[in-house]
Amino acid sequence: MSEGKIRKIQSFVRRSGRLTLGQKYGLNELWANYGIDPINHEILNFDSLFAKPQAVILEIGFGNGDSLLQMAINEPEYNFLGIEVYEAGVGRLINEAHKHNLSNLKIIKQDAVEVLKNNIAANSLAGFQLYFADPWHKKKHHKRRIVQAEFMHLMSAKLMNGGFVHMATDWQNYAEHMLQTLEAHAHFKNTLGAHIYSPRPERRPITKFEKRGERLGHGVWDLIFTNEK
Ligand SMILES: C[S@@+](CC[C@H](N)C(=O)[O-])C[C@H]1O[C@@H](n2cnc3c(N)ncnc32)[C@H](O)[C@@H]1O
Repeated sequence: MSEGKIRKIQSFVRRSGRLTLGQKYGLNELWANYGIDPINHEILNFDSLFAKPQAVILEIGFGNGDSLLQMAINEPEYNFLGIEVYEAGVGRLINEAHKHNLSNLKIIKQDAVEVLKNNIAANSLAGFQLYFADPWHKKKHHKRRIVQAEFMHLMSAKLMNGGFVHMATDWQNYAEHMLQTLEAHAHFKNTLGAHIYSPRPERRPITKFEKRGERLGHGVWDLIFTNEK
């Protein structure tokens, strides 16, 4: 099989379904205001992308976008870049951002791993957020988890020195994997000390998947690290 035909392992399954009118409006009519379509290996220039040049926080897999929306409202001193492949969530977030007249939020609707590799400049991010990433419960599927040593190298390269990584999950086995992967990396330092999970910081709103986990009786593990190159 030629290299071009090898299917990459992806950390997501595309969910489809009917879109509401609001989601369609967000995806189509408002895309030019909030959406970004990076092409090939074009490096994004954050200063020209956002209304104000200020520190950028990246969130991967924002789902329906409600918690990212709340953060962008609460923290106008940051620019937020959200990457998600779930169309309904992208449409919903754009529609809501428009209602709140937000100018510090941009959205990319592509595989975040590819975007990070190809379109984000080194040392350009102030923070990285990953909340309730797909846990891929079965051992044979663990290779599909987005948190892997290689992914953390990529993250460290794109984060500025002193930038933060904030992850949260409701799956204990994935929390342990995240902790081990981050602590094994030379650049990431646990803000609370070795092997310690954080309580949910006030700045992180409760997400949709978190609420679902709570209903099922799941615990929640937050991990907050800094990137010390
Ligand atoms: C379990 S959901 C959590 C959503 C949200 N953070 C929450 O807590 O409600 C994980 C999301 O990550 C997205 N995702 C997973 N891998 C991704 C990737 N490589 N690029 C973009 N989105 C991804 C999925 O589409 C899905 O919506």
